[in-house]
Amino acid sequence: MARRNKIYEGKAKVLYEGPEPGTLVQYFKDDATAFNAEKKDVIDGKGVLNNMLSEFFMSGLTNVGIPNHFIKRLNMREQLIRAVEIVPLEVIVRNIAAGSMAKRLGMKEGTKLSRPIVEFSYKDDSLGDPLVPEEYITAMGWANQPELDEIVSIALRVNDFMCGVMYGVGIQLVDFKIEIGRVYDAELPQLIVADEISPDSCRLWDVKSGEKLDKDVFRRDLGSLTDAYTEVARRLNVLPANSTPVTKPTLVN
Ligand code: TMP
Repeated sequence: MARRNKIYEGKAKVLYEGPEPGTLVQYFKDDATAFNAEKKDVIDGKGVLNNMLSEFFMSGLTNVGIPNHFIKRLNMREQLIRAVEIVPLEVIVRNIAAGSMAKRLGMKEGTKLSRPIVEFSYKDDSLGDPLVPEEYITAMGWANQPELDEIVSIALRVNDFMCGVMYGVGIQLVDFKIEIGRVYDAELPQLIVADEISPDSCRLWDVKSGEKLDKDVFRRDLGSLTDAYTEVARRLNVLPANSTPVTKPTLVN
C-alpha cells in the first residue's frame, strides 16, 4: 500500500496526511538535534518514548480540560492529531532559571523564580528562533491581543498540570516549551496545544539528586538520552510494551 502523503518534515517529527479531513498523522523520529541542528544524532528509541510520553501528557491535559491536538496513538511511533494552523511562536514557561535565561541574565542555573515566567520566541530556524516581546507578536500579526492573553493563560494552566504530575514522581519541572495552534470549529478560531510535550521540550530534574532527565543530556553530553527518557517514562508508568514496566509511579516522600 502506498505511504500516506507527507505534509511536512521537521527535525524530530514528520507529519502525514490523516485519514479524515482536519486530521494528521504525527510520526516521531529517533533524530535528536540541538543548537539549531548544529549538533545531530540518531538516538535509538527516542521516537517511541516521545510518542508515548506526548500521548500521556496531552491526554492528561484533555482530562483537566485543556484543549490539545491529540486524538489517539496509532502505533509505537505514530499518533493521530488534529490539523492546526500553527501560531509561529515557541511559548516557554520557566519555574527555575536555566538554559538561555540563566545565560542571558548571568544567573546560576537552578535559581527558583518568584513566579512562573512566560516568554516567546519567534519560530524561525533561519533566525535561530529569537526571543520576542509581546508587542512584536501583535504588531507582526502572529497573534492578536485576546489570543495572546489566551496563550499565556493556556501556558500557565499547562505549567500547573505538568508541575503537579512531575512532582508526584520526584521530578522538578524547570521549564518547557509548547506550541499553540488554531482550529476553526464552526468558523470560530479556537487555540489548542499542538506539536508535542516530551523530554525534548522540557527541562526535568530529579528532585533529590538534581540529575537531568531531559534533552540537556544530549545538548551537554551528560550520558545516555534513552536512559534518561526511559526513567521519566518508567516513573510515569508509560513504557513501550517490550520494556519492563513498574507497577506504580514512584512517589516522593
Ligand atoms: P532555553 O533555556 O534554551 O531557552 O529553553 C527553554 C525550554 O524550551 C527548555 O525546556 C527547552 C525548550 N526548547 C525547545 O523545546 N526547543 C528549542 O528549540 C529550544 C531552544 C528550547
